[in-house]
Amino acid sequence: MIPTATALEREADGRGASAQREHERELVAEHYEHRPEIFELVLDQGLAYATGIFRDASDDLETAQTRKYAFVESELAIRPEESVLDTGCGWGSNLLYLAERTKGRFLGITLSAKQREMALARARMRGVSERVRVELTHVEDLPLEPESLDAVLFVGSIVHMHHREEIHQRVARALRPGGRLLISDCFFPSQARGDRDSAASRYIFVEALGYCRLLRLSEELGLIEEAGLDVRKVEDLTDSYVRTLGHWIDNVRKHRERIDAMSPGFSKLLQTYMTIAKLSFARRSALEYMIVARKLHPAALAVR
Ligand SMILES: C[S@@+](CC[C@H](N)C(=O)[O-])C[C@H]1O[C@@H](n2cnc3c(N)ncnc32)[C@H](O)[C@@H]1O
Repeated sequence: MIPTATALEREADGRGASAQREHERELVAEHYEHRPEIFELVLDQGLAYATGIFRDASDDLETAQTRKYAFVESELAIRPEESVLDTGCGWGSNLLYLAERTKGRFLGITLSAKQREMALARARMRGVSERVRVELTHVEDLPLEPESLDAVLFVGSIVHMHHREEIHQRVARALRPGGRLLISDCFFPSQARGDRDSAASRYIFVEALGYCRLLRLSEELGLIEEAGLDVRKVEDLTDSYVRTLGHWIDNVRKHRERIDAMSPGFSKLLQTYMTIAKLSFARRSALEYMIVARKLHPAALAVR
């Protein structure tokens, strides 16, 4: 059991498992149910709602997000006919990038009907809809057959899920030997650098995004290992997230009037939560990591 560190986590435990699932389904979805046109004004062209990878001072948002898509593609190394689950696929950023460049078969899941519609429309436009399905479901309700998947992604999504231990156990069972898991998300440092129950944290975790649970990196890695996977790579993307958020905030400012015309007051919410997040990552009171893990092939165990 991962100890609960925040009042929000204790509230979640107090609700009980099925009420917490409904809580996430309803409150997390609210954010993503805003019109996709708003996010088109703020994000890169691929609509990644997660950090990019910045390397050079001159990198712009498109460059950084394209580098991230390519990184995800190379880490997952999807072969023809392999089955890939994108858990929390958003408007299809990684899902469609991977579908266009590989011959895999893809299932994306999301809590937002608008995201599902948009991801499917974009799949049709790119001519990959035969190999791309998108379902509106909470991950805990998704039937996962043992050894049925070759790769699973959680990019900017696992942070919305309270029941991490159960999710890691189910995903690990669902991966075939040799299967890959990729997570890109936010974590708390081991030392509490600041008040995790502050009004600012609550603003992001509840008001803006519905429900968020940040583990320590070591806790998430422990759950992955306990589920039977080998951690192969951990990359610190905290500085990249500071820059990604900077670009998003600039775009919100630039398009404030258009955003508010579609959803009154939403530009303020976006700008406020993104600014608090940017400061937290800049001070490293929140951290951003990419994790890659793999299910061992039984043949590897026989090698001495
Ligand atoms: C920050 S967005 C990231 C989207 C996408 N992965 C990307 O990088 O562009 C989080 C996504 O996770 C989805 N999500 C959050 N909790 C979920 C859950 N319990 N089951 C399924 N999807 C979930 C949301 O609906 C949303 O699509």
